[in-house]
Amino acid sequence: MAYDNLIIERTDDRAVLTVNRPDKLNALNDETISELDAALRELAADDAVGGVIVTGAGEKAFVAGADIGELARLNALTGIETSRKGQDAFRFVERMGKPVLGAVNGYALGGGLELALACHLRIAAENARFGLPEVTLGIIPGYGGTVRLPRLVGRGLALEMILTGEMIDAARAAEIGLVNRVVAQDQLLDTAHELMGTILKNGPIAVAKALEAVDRAQDHTTEDALALESNLFGILAATEDMKEGMAAFLEKRKPGFKGK
Ligand code: COA
Repeated sequence: MAYDNLIIERTDDRAVLTVNRPDKLNALNDETISELDAALRELAADDAVGGVIVTGAGEKAFVAGADIGELARLNALTGIETSRKGQDAFRFVERMGKPVLGAVNGYALGGGLELALACHLRIAAENARFGLPEVTLGIIPGYGGTVRLPRLVGRGLALEMILTGEMIDAARAAEIGLVNRVVAQDQLLDTAHELMGTILKNGPIAVAKALEAVDRAQDHTTEDALALESNLFGILAATEDMKEGMAAFLEKRKPGFKGK
């Protein structure tokens, strides 16, 4: 499918999804959210795609937030609908069963930071800036920022960002665990590909179940989460990939996983 606000590039085993509205610093208007949702569902269903790298067009912005021109026209009802629609699209990222890596190439503000937070891992360029400036506009983060940021960096640091609306730089983002790594802008995509390559060498069912275990653990009691982990472990023990992975180790060769 062709998209007006996204560029999708597929290579052998992965896809790069670029939010492409550089003249608006890749701000997420309603159409772009719809396209993101459709594109991610398409990539999730495509067996040739093992994982997705999400980035923004240009060197200035990853995504500078939801489109403020559109936000300004919301009322109570459309406000709820808009928030739910973005939340659903971003929740899909978390649950699509394939690793999604955010390559943050500049401003990640508001909905842009919330998109990055929904990715499983984040790599930042040195010029990246992160913030939830919603309160400066008289709203709160509406695409999951109040839920995911405290879980990732802790309540105090998250509330500092949410209540002040101030930006932090890439080095500070790495210090507080908001991003996994910081690299030079011209190394960003290469580093993202390298990390994705390391993940995609592993058994794809194991990677999917690891994502599911970690995702679901946060909503369960310790006992329930441990039971779920055991069940997923058991499912993996019945896969051909598990036999292949162990045989390869014992035979001192590289495994050839088939996702079965
Ligand atoms: N929604 C709509 N348009 C946006 C936008 C957003 N979130 N962020 C940037 N843009 C547009 C600007 O309006 C401008 O468009 P124009 O050229 O038609 O006037 C263009 O992108 C370039 O942005 P500009 O503000 O001129 O760049 P800058 O380098 O001076 O500032 C930012 C960069 C990121 C600091 C600034 O654009 C900004 O604060 N954006 C809004 C961030 C925000 O509050 N996001 C959360 C929304 S909930």
